[in-house]
Amino acid sequence: MVSLKDIKKSNASLQDLPPGLVAVFVGATSGIGLGTLEALAKNANGPRAYIITRSKANATPIIDNLKLLNPMATFMPIEGQFSFIKDVDSMSEEIKRFETHIDILCISPGYLGLGGRHDTPEGMDTDSALQFYSRQRLIMNLLPLLERSSSPRVISVFAPGFEGPIDKDDLECRKHFDNIKACRAASTMTDLMFEELAKERPTVSFIHSYPGQVGGRLMDHALASASGLLWLPAQISRYTVLPVYTHLMCITPEEAGQRTLFLGTSTRFPPTTDHGITGKVDGFVERPNGVGVARSTVMKDGQGNGVYRVNWNAEIVKDSKLIDQYREEGYGKMVYDHTTNVFERSLSGNAN
Ligand SMILES: NC(=O)c1ccc[n+]([C@@H]2O[C@H](COP(=O)([O-])OP(=O)(O)OC[C@H]3O[C@@H](n4cnc5c(N)ncnc54)[C@H](OP(=O)(O)O)[C@@H]3O)[C@@H](O)[C@H]2O)c1
Repeated sequence: MVSLKDIKKSNASLQDLPPGLVAVFVGATSGIGLGTLEALAKNANGPRAYIITRSKANATPIIDNLKLLNPMATFMPIEGQFSFIKDVDSMSEEIKRFETHIDILCISPGYLGLGGRHDTPEGMDTDSALQFYSRQRLIMNLLPLLERSSSPRVISVFAPGFEGPIDKDDLECRKHFDNIKACRAASTMTDLMFEELAKERPTVSFIHSYPGQVGGRLMDHALASASGLLWLPAQISRYTVLPVYTHLMCITPEEAGQRTLFLGTSTRFPPTTDHGITGKVDGFVERPNGVGVARSTVMKDGQGNGVYRVNWNAEIVKDSKLIDQYREEGYGKMVYDHTTNVFERSLSGNAN
């Protein structure tokens, strides 16, 4: 485990870098994303951060507070519905108008629904869009800018270690939808997709991060969305079990944020390429004493593939037999093709 003390020390050395680190956040108006943005504001030297949000008005007071933490930083809200591919595209274009490179892309829109399937107008389950499809679209749109960073990182804060089976004939869980099954499938597809993207973009590190149990509004949101027979027990739990559970079992969003910034900056998570050729670096901040390079999901001749499934404590999540099996059976390419087909379908106006 990497201690919080080491993590804070590592983040503090971002101050020594030249100004102008560029980060893009989704889901940073609360919870883990906001914790990460605050950690960036406190530690980095004149960073520029883009905050993708459904409401610029809601983001304004948050940005005012961030400016107090770091008057030299720039925070730009970008407004749109992240669950709509069309909006992801227009928001990506907006960022591209201002920036030629991106160092850190940190994606953590929080949504754990328990109320069944709710389709977006583009025909995707909303939870699955927020957990997987829209995240992949944004990543793919911004990869050309990430590749221009000297240490590019993609972080999807979600659920490595909670993978579940995927049905290759029903990757969107349309036939038998249930929220938990779809969420676990999204976790599996994230790992497979990152491995495919890392093959195309070997100078980028791809991190699928489990943030731990983090106090905040996610669980409350999940319980509030319960319906049918679950509704009453869920409402009672919101006001009885949840506050006690949060107090006793959860880390704070501030700690989760410091830890997530570490994932975005430490040489513990290098990409696959040999930087002797590209002139890039393995990360902005050297590893703390006694902390080694993390093990990528695929290692060959001592070289990792630059994809990491990371636990809340910056250690690697236990290997998944399911992912190993899917990798061997070539599911990665299938998930990649399926995902790009879903994008095309969504944008074609044909919701089914
Ligand atoms: N918290 C935990 O204990 C925990 C544990 C395991 C995994 N995770 C995962 O970590 C991620 C972040 O969790 P969190 O606790 O930080 O979440 P959160 O505080 O509940 O939400 C973070 C952000 O998600 C965005 N969001 C929520 N609903 C949305 C919607 N329908 N469309 C677009 N954006 C939406 C909001 O941004 P705007 O309102 O600005 O649009 C909000 O700032 C989630 O993916 C979650 O599954 C969390």
